[in-house]
Amino acid sequence: MHKIIVAIDGFSSCGKSTMAKELAREVGYIYVDSGAMYRAVSLFCIQNGLMTDTDINAVELEKKIESIQIEFKTNQEGKSDTWLNGRNVETEIRSLEVANGASRVSTLGFVRRELVRQQQLMGEKKGIVMDGRDIGTVVFPTAELKIFVTASPEIRAQRRLDEMAARGESANYEEVLANVIERDDRDQNRAESPLRKADDAVVIDNSHLTREEQSMLLRTLFIEKTFN
Ligand code: DC
Repeated sequence: MHKIIVAIDGFSSCGKSTMAKELAREVGYIYVDSGAMYRAVSLFCIQNGLMTDTDINAVELEKKIESIQIEFKTNQEGKSDTWLNGRNVETEIRSLEVANGASRVSTLGFVRRELVRQQQLMGEKKGIVMDGRDIGTVVFPTAELKIFVTASPEIRAQRRLDEMAARGESANYEEVLANVIERDDRDQNRAESPLRKADDAVVIDNSHLTREEQSMLLRTLFIEKTFN
């Protein structure tokens, strides 16, 4: 059984990371959440005064980009946590503020080039499942298995609201839906590596799929690619 690269792209909050993590665990592959890397850069900007509601200080960020060290470390529960410059930031990077900032820093070409470089290094030996927006198109254009995941904005907003409620955060459905639509628009329309389906990606619309149905589908596709 040879090792392959699995690239999972799609809109925000459509369960990409859940399916990517699950597959990686089942088949013993490394899982990389590329969105967490953009979120870590966003957090760095917020904490270093490089980003306001309207502006990013791109000149200063570009000078500092190589000093931003992002790592993934497995915690005691066996889950992968994101570390930024030696500090575990897994919880902090999940806030709405950091997510909005991530969507903005991800429009900067020099940020993308640096993170893509790091992501390609992580996949050098294959045996990796990576999720994001440009994994099948830019990071690993020759990945053996490419998936494009989608679900309706309303369903994704509800899922995000449920996730926030589980963390004890309160939010308003209309506000979360507006945020989902705004991020979709930014992800699809940015000049640098916009979110799009790779020509050879398999589309999974999971609006009405159970988690089990989705897992089964993904496992079948993985087996087909691995044994061919
Ligand atoms: O998947 P996520 O919500 O954690 O991603 C955070 C932001 O980073 C999102 O607005 C899109 C951006 N992103 C990207 O541009 N390219 C990637 N490969 C992953 C995420």
